[in-house]
Amino acid sequence: MSLEDVLTWVERGSAEAELARQIDFDRLPAHVAIIMDGNGRWAAQRSLPRVQGHRAGIDSVRDVVEASARLGVQVLTLYAFSVENWKRPPTEVATLMALLKRYLRSELRMLLDNNIRFKVVGREHELAPDVRDELVFAARQTELNTGMQFNIALNYGGRAEVVDAARRAIEAGVHADELDEERFAGFLYTAGQPDPDLLIRTSGEMRVSNFLLWQIAYAEIWVTETLWPDFRRQHLFDAVLAYQKRERRYGGIARPVVAG
Ligand code: IPE
Ligand code: IPE
Ligand code: MG
Repeated sequence: MSLEDVLTWVERGSAEAELARQIDFDRLPAHVAIIMDGNGRWAAQRSLPRVQGHRAGIDSVRDVVEASARLGVQVLTLYAFSVENWKRPPTEVATLMALLKRYLRSELRMLLDNNIRFKVVGREHELAPDVRDELVFAARQTELNTGMQFNIALNYGGRAEVVDAARRAIEAGVHADELDEERFAGFLYTAGQPDPDLLIRTSGEMRVSNFLLWQIAYAEIWVTETLWPDFRRQHLFDAVLAYQKRERRYGGIARPVVAG
């Protein structure tokens, strides 16, 4: 994508158009991963039940998925439900699952129109059959798309993923001598995808909460106080701009400003 493309879908003269102008389209993060947090706090601030925060968060998902695809991000991973989130009250869990189903149904057209490929990362087989059916349907419908890969992390745990990968490697008969980082990564849910370059967490918490533990080894982390239901494309642009100002070293030394 290019700035010209982006300016066709952001409002002229708006704050996000201004931000978009500053983005270097040759240095976009290939993979953006987001810990969507703060729905409960958003609801509490309005004296609403927590589930209203989850409901409001759907609008943020819609906006960010579409904006990421149009920007030219290759992979977007959204953390929707962790393996630890089963500890929440059953009514909250049920609402989250119902919202997910509704989202998939209502957004399939948008995913197709934007050439987006959808996939679940997480222990999908442990989800209720009606939820799984919806997920499988959306994944099948979009599997031939060639644009952005949209991963939804559902019943996801970073440690669970590493354990699952180890099990799969053993089942595949991989010998200890043959196993290296690259081979192992091929057994993760994200096999074949670039690692996240940019990890965003909303609502200010400075923790990783068991998200993509293997893959975020060298991700740039950007935390915003904005609560997830208030997060929109301009916040994504803010994060991308902050990312583009970072100096990534991968354990090496800073590159000199002037070569020679
Ligand atoms: C994020 O919002 C959504 C999920 C984890 C499913 P929270 O529900 O965690 O909101 P807070 O952190 O309690 O505000
Ligand atoms: C992380 O948020 C999980 C998701 C966004 C799905 P949590 O709200 O569950 O994380 P903690 O409990 O604050 O670490
Ligand atoms: Mg939370």
